Amino acid sequence: MNKTVIHLLFVFLPYVAVGQDKVAPRKIKENFWYKNSIIYNLEIGVFKDSDGDGRGDINGVIQKLDYLKMLGVDVIWLAPFQPSPGADDGYDVADYYGVDPRLGTAGDFAELMHQVKKRGMRVIMDLVINHTSDQHPWFKNARTSKKARYRDWYVWSPTKPRDADKGMVFPGVQEAVWSLDSTTNEYYYHRFYQFQPDLNFMNPEVMQETQRIIGYWLNQGIAGFRLDAVPFIIEVPKSGSDKPKLDFEFLSDIRQFTQSRQADAAILGEANVEPKDNVNYFGKNGEGIQMMFNFFVNQHLFYAFASGDLKPLKKAMHETLEIPQSSQWAFFLRNHDEIDLGRLSDAQRQKVYDVMGPDTNMQLYDRGIRRRLAPMMGNDRRRLDMAYSLLFSLPGTPVVRYGEELGMGDDLRLKERLSVRTPMQWNGTKNAGFTAADTAFREVISDGQYGFTTVNAEQQWRDTTSLLHRISSLIQMRKSCPEIGLGDATVMESGSDDILAIRYEYEGKTLMILHNFSNKPVKATLPVGNARKLNNLRSGAGDIIASNSRVTINLPPYGYGWYRIDHVLP
Ligand code: NOJ
Repeated sequence: MNKTVIHLLFVFLPYVAVGQDKVAPRKIKENFWYKNSIIYNLEIGVFKDSDGDGRGDINGVIQKLDYLKMLGVDVIWLAPFQPSPGADDGYDVADYYGVDPRLGTAGDFAELMHQVKKRGMRVIMDLVINHTSDQHPWFKNARTSKKARYRDWYVWSPTKPRDADKGMVFPGVQEAVWSLDSTTNEYYYHRFYQFQPDLNFMNPEVMQETQRIIGYWLNQGIAGFRLDAVPFIIEVPKSGSDKPKLDFEFLSDIRQFTQSRQADAAILGEANVEPKDNVNYFGKNGEGIQMMFNFFVNQHLFYAFASGDLKPLKKAMHETLEIPQSSQWAFFLRNHDEIDLGRLSDAQRQKVYDVMGPDTNMQLYDRGIRRRLAPMMGNDRRRLDMAYSLLFSLPGTPVVRYGEELGMGDDLRLKERLSVRTPMQWNGTKNAGFTAADTAFREVISDGQYGFTTVNAEQQWRDTTSLLHRISSLIQMRKSCPEIGLGDATVMESGSDDILAIRYEYEGKTLMILHNFSNKPVKATLPVGNARKLNNLRSGAGDIIASNSRVTINLPPYGYGWYRIDHVLP
């Protein structure tokens, strides 16, 4: 073995080989920071403006790091911040190696990384490589001639493919996935909007450039990537837009490269896939991407919220529980897009629409709802508290979208997904304290029950009964329960159809977490083996004594309980 091989073995072994359950000691899981982190997603442009130009900026984020620390955030996920025409809010990158000058400078970015590190937090960033902006110099060059230097970095067809109008990601807004380029008279492929031409990963130069981009940002201090549009990146070009062939090897390649540069760097994939396909993304032995958003459970969770019927949710959880040791789910309630309900049956989706997004203006792309969580829940604090308790106790890593911790609302006058991307509401002064400018580049929500004078961070920070306080104490409770991110989860029968009961086991400790999805008080009966009692982890709440190897737990409407068997502390 030469020196390089030996070195690589040392770098990879703890991270790659752990997927193989027989070799890996269980405790190795504790090495993975992403297993039990609290991730907070923000867009720099709408978070905090530091220089009064009406748009949020990197220095604004730096000013608010202590707020995030106080909330309990471990990892900040930055939405795209690279130079971009902004036609898809930054998911149309025009320069992979820069910082959008409207958001700050490379120096500001370095300062952000320093300030984040100083507070013991990490930053992950969106890696948008399925496509570039049509304003990217590569594409501008590629469309100049069929022989252009960057021509083969994109996917072309001399004739209009038969499936040109199949597989649009934004139906209703996007008309095709192939569009004619008039200069060279050929069609280019774009899974997303017409201005987002897909890169051609069959071209080794594109893969090499991707490695450059990854290496570059790791060097800037990034801890990992939220990999955008994973199932589309791995499409084999021209294999059909309806049921394309997928190249899963790409995922282990990109992971290996990333870890060769930084052993603990992690990739969180955006892949809304069926449970049977999860293994291809995580890899059989965990050699694929480390994390994925659990879109499958998310959609069934919203069905359960809307209908009170928990059976499909429990089934979805069963189907996604088994993953390799080094892999992890990311759970979320709302993100920056529409809530995607495309994997529900038509009747189930209709139920969620009826309850949570009845107007057609609230719905989007024939599959989802473009509202924030609080409006979807009728701004009912009991339901919101229960939903967050659940988020922090699902078997994976929780991801919170900025403003959700306050119960912010949406602005349905804005187009498509911009409705859930309004500026952060910091206080009750002009423009919610987001900017000192007279006009914010995107309007702040000012009217009604979600207006900034009613919903803002400052006021909620002063009020210990606020949603913000509730969420920060739920985060603390989650942090005292390493079993959730590390242990084995089981969905338990509780004797009540309204209750979701999950048991976690890790290192000889057992947690039981219960949620009541109904507006009635309910009773759960659960087996506890030899345990004497369940210790209630919520302060001020009583413990539950076992009798005949069982416990009976009463939960109020939308109530929840976190218990550890025979132990109080982790
Ligand atoms: C998924 C992102 O979440 C979405 O906001 C974006 O429009 C598409 N990918 C295209 O990059």
